[in-house]
Amino acid sequence: MEIPPELITFLRSCVHAAALTGAGVSKESGLRTFRDPMDGLWAEYRPEDLATPEAFERTPELVWEFYAARRLKAGEVQPNPGHLALVEMERHVPHFTLVTQNVDGLHRRAGSKCVVELHGNITRVKCSHGCGVFTEWEEISGKAPTCPACGEKLRPDVVWFGEILPGDELATAVQAARTCSIFFSIGTSGLVQPAASLPFLAKQNGAMIVEVNTEETPLTPSVDYFFQGKSGEILPELVKAAWG
Ligand code: APR
Repeated sequence: MEIPPELITFLRSCVHAAALTGAGVSKESGLRTFRDPMDGLWAEYRPEDLATPEAFERTPELVWEFYAARRLKAGEVQPNPGHLALVEMERHVPHFTLVTQNVDGLHRRAGSKCVVELHGNITRVKCSHGCGVFTEWEEISGKAPTCPACGEKLRPDVVWFGEILPGDELATAVQAARTCSIFFSIGTSGLVQPAASLPFLAKQNGAMIVEVNTEETPLTPSVDYFFQGKSGEILPELVKAAWG
């Protein structure tokens, strides 16, 4: 893979970097993405049947089943070289913020320290009534568990379509996009807001934009460098070229 020397030089001297990852970064670990034409989750299921508050109200058991299966699968797989390359990048860049749309927890399991989980985490559950109770999935049982504090239904701690993102995480992600000198968009179709706006925000602040994705996306025409291919192959080469 050809890596422009000016990108390597820029990376080596970089103090503030940010990355936005999507389901594509976990694909090589064996997890399905959402919109890959052949095997994306939304090719088989309708998001409105599983990933909305209305779906949870209508059929909580079905929604629990869907997330329980995804959580189980996420626990069975391992971080891949793409996740590990981002851990390495965090070691070399003084201020590195990893913003992820993924709920699989693989970045943290790989060893990334500064991870902003914009869409929540599938290993956690929370009270659907907002009484502030959060717990680990292991603590609960039954098909539609209830909150120990208020008796309302518990739910997976993930952001569903139509819901607002966790305020602190979004603020941290926006701040990182505003202050970074290089912004990576990795393994995301760039179709879901507000995450999809982050690279454009970074560009407005004058950051260099680097995209790593198997397909072109709406962001591609605006980036400085587009590496088409698998993040598990490209990211380790980028990190090796920059820091050996
Ligand atoms: N390496 C890099 N990119 C890859 C790889 C890979 N090995 N495999 C697939 N991709 C790319 C696909 O080409 C696609 O552009 O990853 C992208 C995955 O896009 P989506 O499936 O749309 O996933 P994502 O962008 O994370 O979706 C955003 O939508 O459904 C909601 O909340 C859900 O967080 C999710 C959000």
